[in-house]
Amino acid sequence: MNQKTNVCHAENTSNQTPVMLVTGSARRIGAAIVKAAHSQGYRVIIHCHRSEQDSDNLANQLNDIRANSAKVIVADLTIVNDETALDSLVKNIIESFGQLDVLVHNASRFYPSPLGSIDRAQWDELFLTNAKAPLLLSQALLPYLKQRQGCIVSLLDIHAHDRPFSNYTVYNMAKAAHRMMVQSLALEMAPEVRVNGVAPGVNILPDPTSDQAIDNEQQQNIIDAIPMRRIGQPDEIAHSVLYLVQANYVTGEIITIDGGRSLTLAGSQF
Ligand SMILES: NC(=O)c1ccc[n+]([C@@H]2O[C@H](COP(=O)([O-])OP(=O)(O)OC[C@H]3O[C@@H](n4cnc5c(N)ncnc54)[C@H](OP(=O)(O)O)[C@@H]3O)[C@@H](O)[C@H]2O)c1
Repeated sequence: MNQKTNVCHAENTSNQTPVMLVTGSARRIGAAIVKAAHSQGYRVIIHCHRSEQDSDNLANQLNDIRANSAKVIVADLTIVNDETALDSLVKNIIESFGQLDVLVHNASRFYPSPLGSIDRAQWDELFLTNAKAPLLLSQALLPYLKQRQGCIVSLLDIHAHDRPFSNYTVYNMAKAAHRMMVQSLALEMAPEVRVNGVAPGVNILPDPTSDQAIDNEQQQNIIDAIPMRRIGQPDEIAHSVLYLVQANYVTGEIITIDGGRSLTLAGSQF
């Protein structure tokens, strides 16, 4: 784990300016959340694991807009398996700006685990990012969130509830656990800290270079199955995250952002 400061100018910002940490936010939806929060005046902590260069670029871009407003923390979330390492991560998070107002659980692993091929490593990895790390990080950061009457927002999935994604059993199970975490913690953390979730449908396709890439025909099939007739956009997820952050009387809520996709879905491939 490694904490870095990407400050282009050396001004102090007021401790009244809220601070948001988004896990896995170097790229894609996480980066969209960071940018949207920053544009609304938040100071942001960009967490990443492998995408360090993307994180640095994003932080530098945001610090150019407003000095000392973005920092980067590099950590494999397997860190939550080690209490001392987790304590050290929490220390780094809090020392970034001296406070934490919003914790967004965005980091995730996503790949198929067809029955017959499921192994323990897949279980550990998919549950770590999609359920265990969010819970243990929430617990460890609770005292700081309480001090700020802060909140947590979790990135879930329309497949986390009732409509499993075929061949993704372990992912579905992990996100379902995460969904229940949102509801359970909303009860336990109230009234000081609110806990909500956003359930995307298809809001950004897998990277074309990744092993999850899909071809044009598959893309068209997805679009045909979405009532809004298009793939969603990361900004549309960011918008709903910021709504939940600002919705002072909303807790335990999960907002679906899927262009109506859940209405047509009964468990399927894309
Ligand atoms: N994309 C969609 O349309 C869609 C649909 C439904 C739900 N969601 C949910 O929305 C969220 C964002 O989606 P996305 O597609 O933008 O996510 P993503 O690109 O698949 O993953 C986000 C980040 O998670 C980080 N990560 C993975 N394993 C990690 C580990 N062991 N330790 C630390 N970080 C780790 C990676 O960081 P590094 O790159 O730094 O390694 C990665 O960039 C996810 O929770 C996802 O499940 C997305």
